[in-house]
Amino acid sequence: IKRVTTHTLQEMKNRGEKIAMLTAYDYSMAAIVDEAGIDIILVGDSASNVMAGHETTLPITLDQMIYHASSVVRAAKRALVTVDLPFGSYQGNSKEALNSAIRIMKEAGAHAVKIEGGIEISESVTRILTAGIPVMGHLGLTPQSIYKFGTYTVRAREQAEAEKLREDAMKLQELGCFAIVLEKIPAQLAKEVSEMLTIPTIGIGGGQHCNGQVLVIHDMLGINKGFKPRFLRQYANLNDVINGAVKNYVSDVKAQDFPNDTEQY
Ligand code: KIV
Ligand code: NA
Repeated sequence: IKRVTTHTLQEMKNRGEKIAMLTAYDYSMAAIVDEAGIDIILVGDSASNVMAGHETTLPITLDQMIYHASSVVRAAKRALVTVDLPFGSYQGNSKEALNSAIRIMKEAGAHAVKIEGGIEISESVTRILTAGIPVMGHLGLTPQSIYKFGTYTVRAREQAEAEKLREDAMKLQELGCFAIVLEKIPAQLAKEVSEMLTIPTIGIGGGQHCNGQVLVIHDMLGINKGFKPRFLRQYANLNDVINGAVKNYVSDVKAQDFPNDTEQY
């Protein structure tokens, strides 16, 4: 199997082939996702929410991200594994950002890192790229800034914020980022940015004109009950499937149906 690289992704944009990306945080799920043909596996700091049960992405640590990432890397034979730099691991200064990125590459064996932000993080992006580490950008509704935004609503509806996003996207491309995630922004703006940039855009709530799409695996599999934003298409209802299986197991154990004669030694 040939590994997807940042060059593969650029070629995909050039020939108009869409990029499919999903999150994964552990070995078993990553193995399924990789075998099914995903191009990029994102070890997102959404692990803070879906794996650890935190309300936001802020609490997850660099050590915890490295643990998740190392498990995913062991499973991914084809996909490019990209790992989020968590909140607090890169904002201090560009040296700290580089150290965090190096730990992710070295200790987890990841292939790229993702960082939230635009012009403000230029120095850090440059420093990480200079070390030979591919960087994916992330603009729009950047969840690590949720306490600044105060709401999970669509970003960059206003002219000023849209203009800032265009400038940030151009800057990230100029610095050398290989792709940019556009989260929860108007489809028209995502279209403009996708056409303006030569590097691929990957949307989540960014509409159909992005060069790729990303979803959180727990959301698209219907594992979290009740999370149904407009941008989410649910491809399975694993919550019901697992709930039903566990109920059947409980009742089989109680009824002394499990284990039966053939299920013991
Ligand atoms: O952490 C995450 O899952 C992400 C994606 C939603 C882009 O950053
Ligand atoms: Na993230």
